[in-house]
Amino acid sequence: MEVIIQPDAAAAGLLAARMVAAVIKDKPHAVIGFPTGSTPIPFYARLVRMHREDGLDFSRITTFNLDEFVALAHDHPASYHAYMEKHLFGHVNVARDRIHIPDGTAADIPSYCRQYEDDIRTAGGIDIQILGIGPDGHIGFNEPTSSLGSRTRIKTLTLQTRRDNAAEFGGEDKVPFHVLTMGIGTILDSRMILLLAFGAKKAEIVARAVEGPITALVPASALQLHPRTVLLLDEPAAARLTKADYYRYVYEHKPDWQNY
Ligand code: PGA
Repeated sequence: MEVIIQPDAAAAGLLAARMVAAVIKDKPHAVIGFPTGSTPIPFYARLVRMHREDGLDFSRITTFNLDEFVALAHDHPASYHAYMEKHLFGHVNVARDRIHIPDGTAADIPSYCRQYEDDIRTAGGIDIQILGIGPDGHIGFNEPTSSLGSRTRIKTLTLQTRRDNAAEFGGEDKVPFHVLTMGIGTILDSRMILLLAFGAKKAEIVARAVEGPITALVPASALQLHPRTVLLLDEPAAARLTKADYYRYVYEHKPDWQNY
């Protein structure tokens, strides 16, 4: 794993956006996996700016979102359909028919999830998957003890994750119990993974994911198996890493051709 420590979330968001822009410029029909949550907001703001000011062209990309709540209307303000519209899709020239967000209102969930996996394969696989990390180590909504080989499926949120999402829903009791999420195996199939984590609240789980054992108890630790995973952290999120100085030293001495 490559760990890059930036002074703050704005600087990390800019670097993440530059990395995604480089993928799109190199491959205009790239397939991009997008996350939701509070963490990627500065990253999306940068992508929108790059579209407006530099003409970054989204017209040929295909997108797959990580997850969505089950049985939540797409126009519900806490849905990830609404989130993506608000933070990215409503502001860039992405082709509507190449946007994929799991449909939590699907009538036949198992067959819908198989189709989602097929759609990713048919699109050519995900070139770059952007991730956040939950305080319990979840990626997508793969809660602790999720199979490290899991595929897109229904999952039950932990009580803590439902509490963490209470504000968006106007109360914990309104947060759905169930979600659809890409599996850990689905995520690991991506050609490149970019995980963003900001703030002191993420410091402990980031250290366990990067420097602890690979375990289903910390789903993000499965990323240690992936050959091209980059973690973009701010200083507070990096505070518990025992090898932080080494990661800084590696970044400072990257060969020019490896820079983002
Ligand atoms: P956050 O959520 O970005 O709102 O912290 C991350 C996650 O739960 O994956």
